[in-house]
Amino acid sequence: MNKRRLYIETYGCQMNVSDSEVVVSIMQEKDIGITSCIDQADIILINTCSIRENAEQRVWGRLDVFRQVKKKRPDVLVGVIGCMAERLKERLLEKEKLVDIVVGPDAYRELPALMEEAEAGQQAINVLLSREETYADINPVRTGKNRVSAFVSIMRGCNNFCAYCVVPYTRGRERSRDPESILGEINELDEKGYREVTLLGQNVNSYLWKNGTKEAVISFADLLEKTALRFPGIRLRFSTSHPRDISDELLHVMARNSNICKHIHLPAQSGSSRILKLMNRGYSREKYLERIEAIRTIIPGCALSTDIITGFCSETEDDHQQTLSLMEEAGYDFAYMFKYSERPGTFAASKLKDDVPEDVKTKRLNEIITLQGSSSAVSKKADMGKTFEVLVEGTSKKSNKELYGRTSGNKVVVFPSGHFKPGDYVNVRITRVTPATLIGVTENTTGASNNH
Ligand code: 5AD
Ligand code: SF4
Repeated sequence: MNKRRLYIETYGCQMNVSDSEVVVSIMQEKDIGITSCIDQADIILINTCSIRENAEQRVWGRLDVFRQVKKKRPDVLVGVIGCMAERLKERLLEKEKLVDIVVGPDAYRELPALMEEAEAGQQAINVLLSREETYADINPVRTGKNRVSAFVSIMRGCNNFCAYCVVPYTRGRERSRDPESILGEINELDEKGYREVTLLGQNVNSYLWKNGTKEAVISFADLLEKTALRFPGIRLRFSTSHPRDISDELLHVMARNSNICKHIHLPAQSGSSRILKLMNRGYSREKYLERIEAIRTIIPGCALSTDIITGFCSETEDDHQQTLSLMEEAGYDFAYMFKYSERPGTFAASKLKDDVPEDVKTKRLNEIITLQGSSSAVSKKADMGKTFEVLVEGTSKKSNKELYGRTSGNKVVVFPSGHFKPGDYVNVRITRVTPATLIGVTENTTGASNNH
């Protein structure tokens, strides 16, 4: 029998990684297998990101490569899925017959049917956004590198409309997934031996499930605690938190459950209240710093990371200095830092001027990166001599006699393998630090503790 095969590449955020696992599951239901070899594929899908212009450029580069594959094997179908599909719609099909199928983030169930339409030579496109779709009943096929940690999507879309951001347009309105289906999916992961789950959503703090009656309303804090109590052997992480919505209640849930990792990704974007207002972020510098203070008080030692955009419309040197000083005050363990990239269709693109020159953006970004470099170094140095419980994820890239894993605060630790294996919890004492990694030695551990 000639089973058809899918080759899939994923770009962008963790949500896209999670979505690709849903896509593989939908295709497998229709007996379309998966291949990691592009030359064996009958269909090539690229799950795309539109968040910044350079993310889209990379995808165009890949489409050029797929064009060469199509030259050799004209029957191969090429599909663009995800945010770029949603943003560019028909325009993708029109471009030099590079693409046969275009499917937006809420229409993945239609992929097998669209594949047939494309095979019959028809235009195959579905970019309808939905108010309900959460793919709750679909069991994602795990394609990640390890069998230890997995993503579980708990909501889709975003209602925030930050002025710079294309996500509310490409992923549609916010909707939460039925908690029972979330717990069911985590239960299966637990039974398969997974030891870490990251709950995913564009803004997890606004998760809300209403079960018909008012009394049965479930918030993100409720969902997180329910999950932590039900799966004591699983570490929980979540991403992303919005500074406006992160409640003390959630922080207390984190503090009192040892299997919830002590790490919060809290994108600040800017340290200037004026810029935050223009960005429509819904908080000021003072409110953001107040939330950091609450985190430090309720969860002492909690790791913090952030996203920063530099060179947003009208950003002055003074605004930039405020971002640097906010970063210094917060003392992030880690940060993702970007130059502002204007996205067509957003509020900023239509109403504000992208007026910070490219060389100024570059200079500011470099200053931000340098500052974060020293913050990260300070944070790692402070770990010297401390012992952390590490969840082992795999064998170190540099040596097969070493394992690597992560601390609760999400720092990567490398240590001698001993008799340990992926999925074990190991106590590691840090003896050396490099810019990217903590290096240590194991202490008396049994290898399978549930005590985080
Ligand atoms: N330009 C630069 N960075 C952006 N981000 C979102 N939109 C843009 C944009 N237009 C960043 C934000 C967000 C992260 C996922 O990407 O920092 O938190
Ligand atoms: Fe974009 Fe803001 Fe929604 Fe994040 S919260 S996805 S930055 S609109």
